[in-house]
Amino acid sequence: ENIEKLQEIIDNSNNIVFFGGAGVSTESGIPDFRSVDGLYNLKYKYPPEQIISHTFFQYKPEEFYRFYKDKMMCLDAKPNKAHTFLAKLEEKGKLSAVVTQNIDGLHQAGGSHTVYELHGSIHRNYCTKCHTFYDAEFVKNSKDLIPKCTKCGGIIKPDVVLYEEGLDDETVTNAINAISNCDTLIIAGTSLVVYPAASFIRYFKGNHLVLINLSETSADKTADLVIHGKVGEVLSQIKI
Ligand code: OAD
Ligand code: ZN
Repeated sequence: ENIEKLQEIIDNSNNIVFFGGAGVSTESGIPDFRSVDGLYNLKYKYPPEQIISHTFFQYKPEEFYRFYKDKMMCLDAKPNKAHTFLAKLEEKGKLSAVVTQNIDGLHQAGGSHTVYELHGSIHRNYCTKCHTFYDAEFVKNSKDLIPKCTKCGGIIKPDVVLYEEGLDDETVTNAINAISNCDTLIIAGTSLVVYPAASFIRYFKGNHLVLINLSETSADKTADLVIHGKVGEVLSQIKI
């Protein structure tokens, strides 16, 4: 019944925006943050939430990279049914943008073109001294735990938004524009507790707000349709 309603909404929309989080990639085998098996519930030498902060990166880059490379750089993960569905929706001209808090690059790997990565990407890395670009494989496979620039020896930093760091202005502007102008907003796989990312959904003024998430969220009460299920499983039942 819910699937039928979702089918109807998607059939009648031609400017959909998808707003997602870590729950979009769990079906690709990447853990989220706040579920029981999420990264923040790992027993680790330092609390994972502390490790992925700017201060921690500055003072303990080795410990940062030990965790980051092992737990956050999932280079073998493949796009799942949610990613490929959204790519197809864009190809059909029904979806204008994917706004994601994920850093795994799986939307692009799945074929999506307009993707606003609010929290950056593991696939972009820059030397902190000379700004030379490095890809994810270089960082993950560097012999030293801390990847160093081959040109100047500087420490390489992922283009990932750590705690205490700001979001990229242009990415934020693009995300807000897309959300402000869409007719349907699908929010999925996110706990909606991280700001400012979660606040951007407030710019939505279209017709249909759809929420697909395993657990309840603060936006359930304002959504027109709430489906508590796995986003890949749900979206793969929609015909386009
Ligand atoms: P969270 O781990 O906070 O939330 C993931 C949500 O997805 C939870 O509500 C799960 O119930 C749900 N979920 C898990 N698997 C799902 C599935 N297959 N289908 C549907 N729902 C599923 O992750 P985010 O909301 O993305 O920031 O977290 C936001 C930010 O917090 C992240 O971008 C990260 C973290 O700190 C940075 O790293 C900067
Ligand atoms: Zn350099």
